[in-house]
Amino acid sequence: MRITFCCTGTAPEPWLQGLRAALPGADVSLWSPGAPAADYGVVWAPPQTFIDQQPGLKALFNIGAGVDALLRLRLPPGLAVVRLDDAGMSVQMAEYVCQAVIRHFREFDRAEADMAAGQWAFRKPRQRADFPVGIMGLGVLGSRVAQALQAFDFTVNGWSRSAKPAVGPLAHVRTFAGEEQLPAFLSASRVLVNLLPLTTQTENILNHQTLSQLQPGGYVINVARGAHVVDADLLALLDSGHLAGATLDVFRTEPLPAGHPFWQHPKLTLTPHTSARTLRDESVAQIARKIGALAAGEPLSSLAGVVDVTQGY
Ligand code: NAP
Ligand code: GLV
Repeated sequence: MRITFCCTGTAPEPWLQGLRAALPGADVSLWSPGAPAADYGVVWAPPQTFIDQQPGLKALFNIGAGVDALLRLRLPPGLAVVRLDDAGMSVQMAEYVCQAVIRHFREFDRAEADMAAGQWAFRKPRQRADFPVGIMGLGVLGSRVAQALQAFDFTVNGWSRSAKPAVGPLAHVRTFAGEEQLPAFLSASRVLVNLLPLTTQTENILNHQTLSQLQPGGYVINVARGAHVVDADLLALLDSGHLAGATLDVFRTEPLPAGHPFWQHPKLTLTPHTSARTLRDESVAQIARKIGALAAGEPLSSLAGVVDVTQGY
């Protein structure tokens, strides 16, 4: 069995070593133009040439949760695409979102600014019930975030494409589904967490019309993709005061270009696409397990994280 590795922006050697150790019978190598045909690809944002020169692939394994960059390529019809299924990302995402919600709700950002200015100031405690959190996307990451926020007694709303039963981590979440229930979801929420995949349906979904429907003093946490947000609309609603602030981990162009108005905006907290990192050891183990299962004849449908290419996630 031959495995080819083609991950833009990723140091290949530790991944190659990890895959070789986990799949001792496999021939694992770094892809370069003209490389021999492989059975499986381990990829992140590969060039179109990679796809065009590997017609024998049985499956592509994406070393991230989001497959938007991969699905922008022309893929052969029927090629299986498998994304990371958690692999240590959901706990990181829960940490990140909880810190952003709590930092805003408890006004730790303002306390830090006061102390930096030499001011010892108390603020009146705010009511948790006044800060219902809405999570867009109730998949692997969104469900874990919902569970973590509920541990801090926040009221949690959730929105997804398909309706969700009230079980497991969503047992106490008020769930909404589909476009027709989006307005009710937004108006029930003051803090908005975006954990949607980037697809043709969700691009630009955080715009003036949708963000205006959040409760006054709304707060946006975008940890999915920058292209979900219409930047000018977000800025206008921050400046009008309808939104109190936002924490942004992802941007339409990354790295965020010098001179972009987000850099200096006083109501924004920015991080460099770091809310949930791909963890190499967990990811290698998961991908190797799945390749081993396919090679042993198990059906693709038995794997977690198989992408529905027509839906885009
Ligand atoms: P997932 O398990 O596939 O969950 C996606 C969720 O979004 C599902 O609940 C799905 O609804 C919902 N959804 C999709 N299209 C929708 C639509 N048109 N309307 C309403 N809901 C829709 O994905 P995941 O593993 O949680 O990851 C989510 C995203 O997080 C990734 O795609 C990636 O972009 C982002 N991410 C960011 C970072 C970072 O470091 N910033 C790290 C990892 C991932 P159904 O349940 O009905 O299918
Ligand atoms: C990171 O953004 C991912 O999609 O895994």
